[in-house]
Amino acid sequence: MCRRTEILPSTDAGILIAAELIKKGEVVGIPTETVYGLAANALNEAAVEKIFTAKGRPSDNPLIVHINDLSMLELLTSNPPNTVYELANRFWPGPLTMVLPKADIVPNIVTAGLATVAVRYPSHPVALSLIEKCKLPLAAPSANRSGSPSPTTAAHVYNDMQGKIPAVLDGGSCECGLESTVILVEDGSVTLLRPGSITPDMLKEAGVEVTIGHGVLEEVSEGEAVLSPGMKHKHYSPKVKVIIVSGSLAEFTRYVDRIQRENQNKSSVGVLVFSSEEKDFSLPCIAYGDAGNAKEQAQQLFSALRRVDELGVDIVYARAPSKDGVGLAVYNRLIRAAGFNIVNGND
Ligand code: TXA
Ligand code: MG
Repeated sequence: MCRRTEILPSTDAGILIAAELIKKGEVVGIPTETVYGLAANALNEAAVEKIFTAKGRPSDNPLIVHINDLSMLELLTSNPPNTVYELANRFWPGPLTMVLPKADIVPNIVTAGLATVAVRYPSHPVALSLIEKCKLPLAAPSANRSGSPSPTTAAHVYNDMQGKIPAVLDGGSCECGLESTVILVEDGSVTLLRPGSITPDMLKEAGVEVTIGHGVLEEVSEGEAVLSPGMKHKHYSPKVKVIIVSGSLAEFTRYVDRIQRENQNKSSVGVLVFSSEEKDFSLPCIAYGDAGNAKEQAQQLFSALRRVDELGVDIVYARAPSKDGVGLAVYNRLIRAAGFNIVNGND
């Protein structure tokens, strides 16, 4: 337990302090192009254990290891299929995580005892400079308390991790806003375990077959076998109840009006809508990007979910994003935030 969490500027001096802390076995909050991570030396079991403690993360949920060159990939994996190099050439550095056979050097705590390790080569200059200064692969899950929305600013990390980690590097707002695409890679084919900014179509264009993994679009029940343990845990949830209403804006508005009439204001209602729609509502309202712009929705969703509790209402009805392109990732996160509560606006 630390007394104070320092917010470090992402200058050379700030990054150097963060690197020294990590080399000493500490955990530091770091910016990446997707979301902020909680980083520690991936090869140091005791340091990695501190990540699980700070996050309150179940020990059966493995971590992603961050690298800054392909020699680190060689170190961490054992006989990766050639497809990995083709995908690395195209998408790294960037928001793609590849799950591969693990080398013995990776402690079991990192992979939650699995025979595979998840590897990612981020593109954020501060993350890259930090790995360069540490000369170590960094295990880093998203820097939220387990179950909360992932942090997209240093202030979000500070809010969740205050007193639990010695420092967070401030690299501004994250560009993507949702976590990386996670794929299990085999020769010539991949299975999508978690959608992100690298979309199934982009992977197909790279010449690989893509299967959408079980759990991406549907709920996984407790005890059911899954390829990615993260799928079965509760995620991204505000404290307030969120319900997604599918259909058009007109259907959404009619549905929310009807619910309010029926419930005769017994419970207070708020809405989570697209930016251009805010003006149509007199209810407490938060927006998450333009209706036609999935990248903007991705960038703003987690920040919006963090503010949903501030509306001070009992239930929040949310507009449903499209599942196309990056929209698949937005939809995947929002259905988890809503605990898979989806209603049809036509009903
Ligand atoms: O964008 C990101 O990926 C961020 C930044 C910080 O890099 N990190 C992140 O880590 O989102 P985390 O721990 O919040 O999510 C990692 C996901 C989990 O769903 C986990 O179950 C899955 O990756 N994962 C990790 N190792 C795995 C493995 N060996 N096999 C299958 N899934 C794995
Ligand atoms: Mg996470």
